[in-house]
Amino acid sequence: MQLCTALLLLGLGVGSCQAEFAPPTVNVSLDDDPEVRWNPLIKVFDIDFLKKAAAEVIDSTVPKWVHQAVKPVVMALEKHIPQPYAGEIRGLAAHFGGSLSDVIILNFAYEVSAFCTSIIAQDKKGHLYHGRNLDYPHPILRNLTINVVFLKNGEVAYRGTSFAGYVGLWTGQSPNKFTVSGDQRGSEHWWNWWKNVVSAFIFRRSPVSWLVRETLEKADNFQDAVIRLSKIPIITGVYYIVGGTQAGEGAVITRDRTGPADIWPLDPVNGEWYRVETNFDHWRPPPARDHRREAASKALNATGQEHINMKTLYQVLSLFPVCNGITIYTTVMSAASPEKYHTLIRPKGCKPN
Ligand SMILES: *[C@@H]1O[C@H](CO)[C@@H](O)[C@H](O)[C@H]1NC(C)=O
Ligand SMILES: *[C@@H]1O[C@H](CO)[C@@H](O)[C@H](O)[C@H]1NC(C)=O
Ligand SMILES: *[C@@H]1O[C@H](CO)[C@@H](O)[C@H](O)[C@H]1NC(C)=O
Repeated sequence: MQLCTALLLLGLGVGSCQAEFAPPTVNVSLDDDPEVRWNPLIKVFDIDFLKKAAAEVIDSTVPKWVHQAVKPVVMALEKHIPQPYAGEIRGLAAHFGGSLSDVIILNFAYEVSAFCTSIIAQDKKGHLYHGRNLDYPHPILRNLTINVVFLKNGEVAYRGTSFAGYVGLWTGQSPNKFTVSGDQRGSEHWWNWWKNVVSAFIFRRSPVSWLVRETLEKADNFQDAVIRLSKIPIITGVYYIVGGTQAGEGAVITRDRTGPADIWPLDPVNGEWYRVETNFDHWRPPPARDHRREAASKALNATGQEHINMKTLYQVLSLFPVCNGITIYTTVMSAASPEKYHTLIRPKGCKPN
């Protein structure tokens, strides 16, 4: 009841209250040693619960025999993981009681199956709004979702939304600079998941969610972010959706492992004031069974550029099938108004109306 009231006060209630709720926020200080900087998770999560949840995700993602078989290999690769991720992963294993190989596997298990919808839109005044749904077929992730504020010298360096135990980001914001979300490209399978791990460490390619974090940490502005997210080699294809602070600063980057396959900017001067990206190349039709792109575009057309804002964007992201049975959370954000960063968990996903 209280959650519903809070939601309605925030103006995010859609139709009847569906009891979406905000995830806990964890402060992670980049000034702390990587091995201890995730310790604030202890204030928010029960350690036994985290262990059980991690085991559940691994069991449903990695076949048992593969899990056993890869453990020694994962341990051999451990020394190749770059900092600060190596230290953070080691610290998570040490403080939350998982085995080191399992925490590594967990950080790669999420890498391959994040289905999503991301939208970047510009209103008539040139303000940018960026929204995303993260879809993933493990209900337990709703209980692991966290907002993470990364602090440097006590100030917010960047923030994002993630899962407890996972060091990368699929959704994030560099205040007054840009926002980023990642959507999976193509349908990878667990046997590719394994190739990805080797590729990451042998060829020194970055997992896609680590590049998001690195970009949030280092890029000076929207343009710099687009260049980094386009060019730096990564372990698998992905779509990066990026929003800036000035009119026209919005783009969907379609990534191959080694570089950009396509960059699709907003073109508001020619009436193209939004871009919708799900999990398919924008220049090709999506599979006939997947209506997310069409439903989102139709709803954005109905909303109109004069009425797009954080609230109406959230409403578009609440429509079935844009929001569906496996939607874990929705984030709406705007780099020029960093305090408005907002994530809500969808306790039961969304059902057809
Ligand atoms: C997180 O850090 C911010 C900024 O320093 C501070 O205002 C807030 O109280 C901190 N929250 C927690 C839960 O520690
Ligand atoms: C949305 O509007 C654009 C521009 O008028 C049009 O090209 C597109 O087909 C519309 N999309 C849907 C799904 O109706
Ligand atoms: C996960 O969270 C939901 C609310 O979204 C709650 O009903 C459920 O009991 C939680 N599950 C676990 C295992 O804690």
